[in-house]
Amino acid sequence: MANEAARNVGPVILLGAPGAGKGTQSKAIVAHYLVPQISTGDLLREHMRRGTDLGHKVRAAMDRGDLVADELMYDMVATRLREPDCRRGFILDGFPRTSRQAEWLDAFLKKEFFENSETLQPVVIHLDVDYTQLLLRLTGRRSCPTCGRIYNVHFQPPRYDELCDLDGSKLILRDDDREEVIRQRLEEYEMQTRPVLEYYRAQGRLVSVTASRAPEEVTAQIFGVIDSHVALQAGRGTARE
Ligand code: AP5
Repeated sequence: MANEAARNVGPVILLGAPGAGKGTQSKAIVAHYLVPQISTGDLLREHMRRGTDLGHKVRAAMDRGDLVADELMYDMVATRLREPDCRRGFILDGFPRTSRQAEWLDAFLKKEFFENSETLQPVVIHLDVDYTQLLLRLTGRRSCPTCGRIYNVHFQPPRYDELCDLDGSKLILRDDDREEVIRQRLEEYEMQTRPVLEYYRAQGRLVSVTASRAPEEVTAQIFGVIDSHVALQAGRGTARE
């Protein structure tokens, strides 16, 4: 573990439909590589909980299952990525979600990260899951309001009904995990986020992972992709071990 803490990982961009397992896999990556998870969904929900200006502006779109306007995302993401814990690497969970966001992110990273030669280029990982599995995952999801651990009543139930295994808190259902909102989120994904896969694929930067397997199998594939990426970049002389 000490080795993982010492080395650069660079930006890890996790793409995938709602329910693909971005949050679940982010937690495994955090634990292994000791880099922070930047979940734009979590950041937005936190703004809504605190009742900030941004929180008021995004509530209606999030309640409907629509994407938040691109312009509202940039400051929030830039502020978080400028924090010192991101210098060695970070996981982007839920961003970018439109082609414009992908272009903005490339420009931001180029300007603020890659002038520093020790920073690795991003690895872009697509978690690929079929539609039926996504519906089951989203309708069955429960999460712990205290520690954030994610469960699923179908696939990863807690030991005791509706209680967190780690701290005993009562598990909650996310507001946007109601069936009509889930359908809208999946439609938004097809229309707005599918082109982001093409954006990265066209540049030869997209690595797809079969994410309909058991969580630990998906994690093993992701670690393999990150390790190869880091080794390849080190071989090109862009990383310092
Ligand atoms: P956000 O919070 O990002 O939600 P999402 O993308 O819809 O993704 P989810 O969190 O629902 O799914 P996940 O992939 O993390 O899956 P999880 O690991 O939980 O966004 C919410 C809203 O915020 C958006 O609708 C939008 O309005 C707004 N927003 C956010 N970012 C934005 C942006 N960049 N631009 C504009 N608007 C933005 O897993 C799901 C379930 O499956 C869990 O129960 C889990 O236990 C289970 N599971 C996971 N992996 C497996 C497995 N391998 N096998 C079996 N079950 C599994």
